[in-house]
Formats: sequence, structure tokens, C-alpha cells
Amino acid sequence: MENITGMKRTKYCGEFRAEHIGEEATVCGWVQRARNLGGLIFVDLRDRSGIVQCTFDEAENAELFKKAFTVRSEFVLSIRGKVRSRGEGAITDRIPTGAVEILATDMRILSKAQIPPFEIVENSDVNDVLRLKYRYLDLRRPDMQKFLALRHRITKVARDYYDENGFFEIETPILTKSTPEGARDYLVPSRVHPGKFYALPQSPQQYKQLLMLAGFDRYMQIARCFRDEDLRADRQPEFTQIDLEMSFADVDDVISVNEGLIARLWKEILGYEVKLPLKRMTYKEAMERFGSDKPDTRFGFELQNISDIAEKCEFKVFKGAIEAGGSVRMIKVDGGAKFARKEIDGLAEWVKTYRAKGLAWLKLAEDGTMSSSFAKFLTEDEVKAIIERADAKPGDVIFVVADGNDDVVFASLGALRVECAKRLDVIDPNRYDIFWVVEFPLFEYDEEEDRYVAKHHPFTAPMDEDVETMMTDPASARAKAYDLVINGYEAGGGSIRIHSSDLQEKMFEALGFTKEAANDRFGHMIEAFSYGAPPHGGLAFGLDRLVMLISGTDNIRDVIAFPKVQNASEIMMQSPDFVEEVQLTDLHIATTAEKE
Ligand code: AMO
Ligand code: AMP
Repeated sequence: MENITGMKRTKYCGEFRAEHIGEEATVCGWVQRARNLGGLIFVDLRDRSGIVQCTFDEAENAELFKKAFTVRSEFVLSIRGKVRSRGEGAITDRIPTGAVEILATDMRILSKAQIPPFEIVENSDVNDVLRLKYRYLDLRRPDMQKFLALRHRITKVARDYYDENGFFEIETPILTKSTPEGARDYLVPSRVHPGKFYALPQSPQQYKQLLMLAGFDRYMQIARCFRDEDLRADRQPEFTQIDLEMSFADVDDVISVNEGLIARLWKEILGYEVKLPLKRMTYKEAMERFGSDKPDTRFGFELQNISDIAEKCEFKVFKGAIEAGGSVRMIKVDGGAKFARKEIDGLAEWVKTYRAKGLAWLKLAEDGTMSSSFAKFLTEDEVKAIIERADAKPGDVIFVVADGNDDVVFASLGALRVECAKRLDVIDPNRYDIFWVVEFPLFEYDEEEDRYVAKHHPFTAPMDEDVETMMTDPASARAKAYDLVINGYEAGGGSIRIHSSDLQEKMFEALGFTKEAANDRFGHMIEAFSYGAPPHGGLAFGLDRLVMLISGTDNIRDVIAFPKVQNASEIMMQSPDFVEEVQLTDLHIATTAEKE
């Protein structure tokens, strides 16, 4: 292989324009493709900035032409030559450098390449496993390069923004103790302390609060977080937060600084004006209207409560749900009458994944005729009342879910409205609905553990009005917690924290911790709070989700250089993996798993 001495790049491939005609230039990169047109060889050279055409002319330099003849796709070359206008008819606006080409006067083959397992082109439809196995090749594709360049810019804008607003970037440990964020921890065994484990942080939550107690006033960090939970299209086991905390702050302060970042990002990167202050919606309203605490408000199909009608009817499914303490709610899907019967049956199956026991429907065909799975069980007046409340017109369909558990009604109808919007293609992809959801419940009931757990985390402060009810009526207590929702994604979340030891102790009590158990797990926090804690609060954005939303992809893997797959493994390096027996011995560990 040849070396690069004396043949270093003078410009990136994608930078050449008509104004450079006549210049001498050297470019370095990968061969996109090489075409031999008899006497002329065209090599499209690619680097992270784009592609430039390099031409080898047999008549000009026969020796070099012969060498160019051996060049194949993905070879790494350095080419020197003179920039000239492309011939009449060869000029193209398909690529930004389409007006020019480089007539090669010298070339080095820096590296040869095997035929790659897939072609390195934009928007290729290669299967995911192959892409991830050869991730370094996948990352050569221009769309992937764009995603990661965008990620870099977003991170840079965020760092600059918080710096301008007086935040210090401070690193917190990766080898730490379990944080109560609700997911399972990744554990790291200690060699020096037999039988003990570090936990990788689910977030820097406790450390950033301690930094406030330490007097740093405003902290931020681009923080790596680890959560052993089920993966989804918007979730990874290791992901990155733009994490921050501020002292002497209340809900409005945290919200105002952070929506400023969102407006800056959307403006600088997308040229999109986000109007501040952002709207705020209470959790209660979000659930009642959209059946979700992260509603996509770019379309209607809002939930409506028909419990009052259902309660009096004779249909046991509806009536029974109310009697069991639940509710009956519906969505009207405009234009949904075009769903065929089979598709509706499919949707009825689909909502069962959200624990709905069934899906009742009523369809008004374009010609006004009605068909329904439940009308026959109701009186004519009851059916009419439902249609009127839904404001259903010919062409619409109404979906009803009844359940003794409100959560099931919300979850299934909330998901169904999004699914219908996707199927009917009514979501405007160029619109951004960005707002805060506030006044989250302080607790949620954990059926598995049969007790209340913190909805956000146990350091979240109750709303001032709810400090008393927190002990007497935990289900109705609200928190000083807020989430930022963008187009139906939870892009960030945070809260004002409890800063008095008394209230913190009460909180642990409400969560069912004995004094000993609370001290055992959080003694360091309780003690720290006793030495003078400023009122404080903060938030964390999911950086990966922000990049995903700004770039317009719907898969979080696209914006992470080396992501993990569904079962939390990484296909290229093949992690996790078995280790040497002596490593385990050193760590005082024996596994019970069989080696494959
Ligand atoms: P929370 O758990 O809500 O809050 O996380 C904050 C944000 O991080 C993103 N996020 C994820 N992104 C990708 N993959 C995941 N598995 C994942 N989990 C969460 C989401 C979410 O809104 N310490 C608190 C913040 C605080 O109170 O200041 C916390 O971690 O976008
Ligand atoms: P059935 O009486 O079981 O024939 O149900 C009549 C209709 O009500 C069918 O369309 C069912 O899918 C629907 N249904 C059953 N259970 C529920 C429920 N919990 N919520 C809404 N619709 C339901």
C-alpha cells in the first residue's frame, strides 16, 4: 500500500464548486464507483462531505490511467489534479459538485477493499441485521453521516446554551450505587470487595442534587445512562441525557431555561420558529383528551367520556365497566369508515395488547347507513346520544372501550387514536407540536409490588397544595413534575425536588420504606439534606430522542453510532460475551448459566 506523505488533502470532496475551476487540488476518500468509458475513467470519490468526480484521461497520462484501471468500489485513494468544468451535457445538479470534475495528475492507492456486503448508498433497504453487523460500512452512508453530524451539532448547541446561562458541566461517576429510577440496574462486580457490586447510573439524579447542596448552583452534563429495560423503537439500554439541575429555582424557572434551548435548537438547526412560552397541559387533561401523558396533538380523534350514557344502558359490557368503578370512552375517527370489517376486527385484536377486553365500534357509511357491533344492545336514543356527542358524520367510525380500570381505557384508546392516524395518514410530518405536561401524579400504584411507588422518583416534591393529602390520599397527590412532549414523544422530564429532610422522610414513609430501609438506601441523601439544602430542581432531555425528532427518523438506532438491538446485544462486536474463567474467579463470581 502507498502512503499519504506529500499527498494530503487540500479540500473535502463535497466542497468543489465552479469558482474553484483552474485550481490545483488533492482529495482523499473512498471510491463510490469507478466507470471505464474507454480512454476515460471516472472515479467518484466520497468523504464525509460528499462526492466529487475525478477523471483519468488515457491521452493525458497513460501510466496513471493504467493504475486507475485497477481501482474498485470502496478503495481508499488520494487523488491530485486540476479542477475543471465538466463537459457540456455532463454538468448535473444531482450533486452539489456537479458543475466540476478533477482531472487527475497523480493518484495513490492508500488501501484496497473487498466487495462490501451491501452498496454504500443513501436510503438503501438493506436488512437491519446486516447493517448492524457491518456498522462501520453502514455508517459510511451519507444519511447516517448526516444523522451523526446533526447529533454533534445538537450537543454543541446545548453545551453553548447552558454555558451562556451559567451552567457548569460537571462529570459524575459511572461506577456508582443503584439509583431509584425504576428500571433494572446494570451491575459491575467488584474485585476488591468480594460479593459487592457497582451499579451503572440510570441517571445522575442523586449526584446532581448533591452538587446543588455543594453550592454549584447550576449544573449540566451530557450524561450516559444505563437501564436494563425492554427495548422499543425509542429506547436503548444505554442512552444519553442532556442532564441539568438548578438551585433556588421553581417549576417556572426550570421550564423557562429549558424551553429556551428547544427554541434555539429548532431555529438553528431546522430554521423553525418555536413560539415561547410553550403551552402547558395538565396530566389530567392529557389523559382525558388523548389517553396519554405524551399525546401527539397534531391530529384530533380525541377521547370522549360516555360513562353517563353507559351507566344507564342495558348492555352489560358498558354497564358492568361503570359498576366496576371504571369508565366507557370513545374516539371518533374522521374518515375511519373506510376501515373494512376485517381491519376493524384486526384493531380489536390489537387493542388487547393494551389489556382492553374488546373494542366496540359504530360505522356511518358515506351513504349514511349505520353498522355497529353494539347498537343492537342499546336503545335508539342511546345510540343517537353517542353519535351526537361524537359529532360523527357519514364516513366516520366510532370506537368504544369499556373497562373497570380507567388506565386500560386510556391506554388502549390513546394508542388506538395514534394507530388510526397513522393508517389514515393524517399526521403532518412538517409540524412540531411541542408543549409541557405538568402536574403529574406523585405516585402510581404498582400492582406487582402491591404498593404506591414514585411516579417520577422519590426525590420529587409534591405540589404545595398536596403536601397533606400525600399521606391521606396518595392516589390524588400531584407532583411538581413536568415532561416535555414533542409530536407524541417524551423528549424530556424533570421535577422540583424535596429539599427538606422532614418532607423527604415523609415521602419514604409514603412509599412504604421503613426508617431502616430508607436509611440503608438513601441515608447519604437524608444526611446531606440536613446540612443546608437550597430549593432546587432540574430536568433531563433524552438526547437520542431529540436527535431523532430533529432528524425526522423514527428509529433511535439511526442516531446512535453503535446501537444495541432488541435483546440488548450489539451485533458487530457481539457483546455481551462470555469471559475467561480466571476473570470470574478474580471477581468472586460463578455463573449458573450453561455456556452455549
Ligand atoms: P427520565 O427517567 O424521565 O428522568 O429520563 C429523562 C429522559 O431521558 C429519555 N430516556 C430515554 N431515552 C432513550 N432510551 C431510554 N431507555 C430512555 N429512558 C429515558 C427520555 C426521558 O424523558 N433523573 C431524571 C431527570 C430529572 O428528574 O431531572 C430522569 O432520568 O427522553
Ligand atoms: P359481545 O357481547 O361479547 O358480543 O360484544 C359486543 C361488542 O362489544 C363486540 O364488538 C365486542 O368487541 C365489544 N366489547 C366487548 N368487550 C368490550 C369492552 N370491554 N370494551 C369495548 N367493547 C367491548
